[in-house]
Amino acid sequence: MTTRIIGTGSSIPNRKVTNDDLAKIMDTSDEWIYSRTGIHSRHLVEQETTTGMASDAAQKAMENAGVSPEEIDLIIVGTVSGDMCYPSTACLVQAKIGAVNAVAYDISAGCSGFLFALNTAHAYIQSGIYQCALVIGAETLSKMMDWNDRSTCVLFGDGAGAAIVKANNAGIRAITQHSDGAGGDVLVCSNRGSNNPFVTSDTKLDYTKMEGQEVFKFAVKMVPKCVQEVIEKAGLSVDDVDYFLLHQANKRIIESVSKRLKVSLDKFPTNIEHYGNTSAASIPILLDELNRKNTFQKGDIIVMSGFGAGLTWGATLLEW
Ligand code: ACO
Repeated sequence: MTTRIIGTGSSIPNRKVTNDDLAKIMDTSDEWIYSRTGIHSRHLVEQETTTGMASDAAQKAMENAGVSPEEIDLIIVGTVSGDMCYPSTACLVQAKIGAVNAVAYDISAGCSGFLFALNTAHAYIQSGIYQCALVIGAETLSKMMDWNDRSTCVLFGDGAGAAIVKANNAGIRAITQHSDGAGGDVLVCSNRGSNNPFVTSDTKLDYTKMEGQEVFKFAVKMVPKCVQEVIEKAGLSVDDVDYFLLHQANKRIIESVSKRLKVSLDKFPTNIEHYGNTSAASIPILLDELNRKNTFQKGDIIVMSGFGAGLTWGATLLEW
């Protein structure tokens, strides 16, 4: 018994912000951003929230899968930008969609959040503990950006994507997950510091800080490795894979992975041009777009790979 994706959904905020829009409020240009990242525009929240977009994506995924909220027995949301410290985004989604029989909680794994959530759901399903799960990646990273730091804020966008997964004979064939906490200081966003009457602390809520080149080096080294690892675990070769769905962090990272794996870039669908880096939401948004275009044929082999803050990285290989 394994885990099959039986429905997908996504939700994008209305407000589209192009590179030219950014150039009106900071010293940047479409040429600089596009040539280094492949991003032309992103969508940023106005009234939308992480919970609202996650719930919207979840509703669409349930409709797509033909599953009722009562059938779901596990909800996991990968997010680092929930609307509340607690309750979790997953519990807020549970209430909104009426998944009264589900247990719900979040996973914090940066841009690997959706993939780690999917792999966790897979472990539960494989063990027989749960049968039907809702897995979501949802972020509003725009609220965690320093909009005076042009080297970082131009990269990110907001959005959510979701998948319904169910116990099935075909589906996920192999997973791999890794963390390197010691290397995590290249991509950080600090939370509240100590705040009780007996201590003084100068730690405060802060914005995202990234050493871009270090993150780039980490990604181009580790992603091809873990993709190869998951393919080997499944007993397949790189040529057996029909699609590689990578976290949409940067077009140049994706091009580098395709080169290192010696696989045509045609097998690496992208949408970063329109949405920027939506962190944990990027893989499920891309998955939903491709699913709704009927891109995948039954039996296609798909590798998804996420990487990001932690540091965390991993891959999942599945048969569609
Ligand atoms: N517009 C114009 N100029 C800029 C901008 C901007 N938005 N940002 C930085 N610059 C300038 C810098 O000030 C610098 O100028 P200087 O040479 O006069 O000092 C110059 O451009 C080069 O800056 P670098 O930071 O060295 O630019 P680099 O070529 O490394 O590109 C980038 C930066 C795009 C962030 C790159 O390092 C990168 O893609 N890193 C990967 C990071 C990533 O993908 N993170 C995603 C989040 S993590 C994740 O999802 C895994």
